[in-house]
Amino acid sequence: MERAMLQLEGVVAGYGPTTVLDGLQLQVRAGERLAMLGRNGVGKTTVLRAVMGLVPLRAGRILFEGQDLAGMAPHRRAALGLGYVPQTRDIFPSLTVEENLVAGLKRRPLQALDEAYALFPRLAERRRNGGGQLSGGEQQMLSVARALLGQPNLLLLDEPLEGLAPLIRQELLAVFRRMSEQTGIPVVIVEQQIDEVLGYAQQAVVLDHGTVVHQDTAAGLRADNEALDRWLGMAVQ
Ligand SMILES: Nc1ncnc2c1ncn2[C@@H]1O[C@H](COP(=O)(O)OP(=O)(O)OP(=O)(O)O)[C@@H](O)[C@H]1O
Ligand SMILES: [Mg+2]
Repeated sequence: MERAMLQLEGVVAGYGPTTVLDGLQLQVRAGERLAMLGRNGVGKTTVLRAVMGLVPLRAGRILFEGQDLAGMAPHRRAALGLGYVPQTRDIFPSLTVEENLVAGLKRRPLQALDEAYALFPRLAERRRNGGGQLSGGEQQMLSVARALLGQPNLLLLDEPLEGLAPLIRQELLAVFRRMSEQTGIPVVIVEQQIDEVLGYAQQAVVLDHGTVVHQDTAAGLRADNEALDRWLGMAVQ
């Protein structure tokens, strides 16, 4: 059996007296696009933050490419190849698009910016604009482009489509598809846009009560109105 690239085993984590993740098990394999779904507040963001070392584990362990991440600082996890685009678009509004991208280069040469511009032509058009002047969709593109410039081995995306109009969501998803085809980087994508994300992902997990309550292929879940209704309170039309 192919070994999981990212493996969460019995993860327990929370805030203060609250336990949010309660023995969570999750696996992401090489090349796989996994949608992580669940109602508001079930702990999807907390899973990604735990992987990045931004929330401490109370029990369990997280392995990335076979290595236990216990006690490892967030920047070291990033250096190992974990790319994270948080739910709050973490761009620098007072810097230009290009300066924001340079911040993602780490030790790579400036020419590497062309990779980002090839994938996101809109960012090339707006390279001299301030980050704060970008539309929501463009800011999201900038966050993802910057994460990709760090050459991650795995990309964690937290609700990249949030707050975007349908046409912009389609445009962004098209870019994600192109990115996946060109790079093959595995992606964990958290989304509330269920129908759209299930069209992009290959596998899907649903969280509830601090654990994974449902697991299927993306196509399988998309066709499973009973599961969609039960776990997500919706059915895809
Ligand atoms: N910094 C924090 N301090 C205290 N409680 C928190 C903190 N961050 C999140 N929580 C709580 O932990 C629970 C899980 O939050 P989390 O952000 O992981 O959920 P989520 O599934 O990402 O939700 P959403 O879909 O709304 O983004 C929620 O009840 C939330 O209120
Ligand atoms: Mg969240």
